[in-house]
Amino acid sequence: MSKKYSRYQTPSLLKARKRLGEQVEFINYQMDAKYQGIGINKTYCVKTYGCQGNLADSEKISGLLEQMGYTVVLDEAKADVVLFNTCAIRENAENRIFGELGRFVKYKKNNPSMIIGICGCMMQEENTIEMIRKKYPHVNLIFGTHNINKLPEYLYEISIKNEDLIEVFSIEGDIYEDLPVKRDHPYKAWVNIMYGCDEFCTYCIVPYTRGKERSRHPEDILNEVDGLIKAGYKEVTLLGQNVNAYGKDFVDRQYSFANLLSDLQKMPIERVRYTTSHPRDLDDETIEVMGKGGNIMPHLHLPVQSGNNNILKRMNRKYTREEYLTKIEKLKKAVPGISLTTDIIVAFPGETVEEFKDTVSLVEAVKFEGAFTFIYSPREGTPAATYPNPLTEEQKHDRLNQLNETINQYYLEGNLRFENQIVKVLVEGKSKNNDNMYSGYSEHNKLVNFEGSDDLIGQIVNVKVIKAYSWHLLGELVK
Ligand code: 5AD
Ligand code: SF4
Repeated sequence: MSKKYSRYQTPSLLKARKRLGEQVEFINYQMDAKYQGIGINKTYCVKTYGCQGNLADSEKISGLLEQMGYTVVLDEAKADVVLFNTCAIRENAENRIFGELGRFVKYKKNNPSMIIGICGCMMQEENTIEMIRKKYPHVNLIFGTHNINKLPEYLYEISIKNEDLIEVFSIEGDIYEDLPVKRDHPYKAWVNIMYGCDEFCTYCIVPYTRGKERSRHPEDILNEVDGLIKAGYKEVTLLGQNVNAYGKDFVDRQYSFANLLSDLQKMPIERVRYTTSHPRDLDDETIEVMGKGGNIMPHLHLPVQSGNNNILKRMNRKYTREEYLTKIEKLKKAVPGISLTTDIIVAFPGETVEEFKDTVSLVEAVKFEGAFTFIYSPREGTPAATYPNPLTEEQKHDRLNQLNETINQYYLEGNLRFENQIVKVLVEGKSKNNDNMYSGYSEHNKLVNFEGSDDLIGQIVNVKVIKAYSWHLLGELVK
């Protein structure tokens, strides 16, 4: 390969899998003065794929770029810097990104000084870097999930040396505090409470792409929320790959997720949500805090993945169907009317018809009010990718369709219970399809549309539900 790189470090899955128990470093970020101003009179565009973790990372990426002087541009073809923040969770997520990258060949031709960068989970995989080098030579910058803080340095180097740069670390990871953030939303904010994952579910690439579980100090989280309250924010969503493991890695204190939730419950922030939970680590203390209500919203996303014990075991989920159902019972008792959503994978390698049926029957037992459902996608380097999977594509799609049909029934059922009730809605803005209609989410995380006005945006209002549909509630403002 003739291309010149000012730095060239690629990932190693073998290293990424290791958990060495190294102490987490807490680093307070401060931007070097020489990077500030580089972006003046230049524009940027960040394209985000994947989960809320990536959305939150992109807000930090934008924050860094703005501190360097760049301004955001909507027309991606015109941007001086374009960054793709990628997701590696399934093959189709990756294919989409490659498709998008292809489009930029033309943009780069029209604007040869455009800097195209790719970061995020996909860059932490071994084979993607080679593929990008071969097929997408117009890419100038590749970095991973562990070095977002170095973006200013990378852009500086690329501009002065005019060489491309690849730097991906396969490490356990540290914690950067005080990175600048440019939040996408003025009333709802993501708040990372921990990074990484140590669960090693056999299908999942995340423990390899995001390092070990490491928790932010509670005082830093509470300070951030305090700042958000002062800035007029109404809702925070606590983020982590497995928030229920929050605090388990502290060596200097005992402080759990339930403690954090309880401390937030005492603060004047109107709404607190969290994602994602792991059923094994969701403990009684957390359920008890949720039961006290207040600003902790009555909705929980609790990925079950499968309703069959053999599959759960082979997924390394570390709970049984029965244990999951017991936690659901406890939740329903502690938080009457709680809305429950989940993630499910069908066609895990070797899944039999009977095993699949157990998943459908679990959905019927819990009556989830929403679910993200997926066909299993092999991820290179994970254990399950080596398991034989004799199912045909048709069988996989049939299972997905059958599961979705069952779930859709409960979407509507879950919404019908709100007909003629008054719900509280945090108004986000005009509804996408109708200018007179405004929309927002209820406490149970239901999308609600109603006739309103611009002055309501950002406020929590009472709406009487007139009609329930599968995907939203239609209501009237109650004055
Ligand atoms: N194939 C399909 N779905 C997956 N998920 C994670 N890894 C895979 C995979 N290899 C799903 C899980 C997880 C959600 C974020 O993505 O359901 O909860
Ligand atoms: Fe995708 Fe998982 Fe990375 Fe989120 S953590 S971006 S879902 S691979």
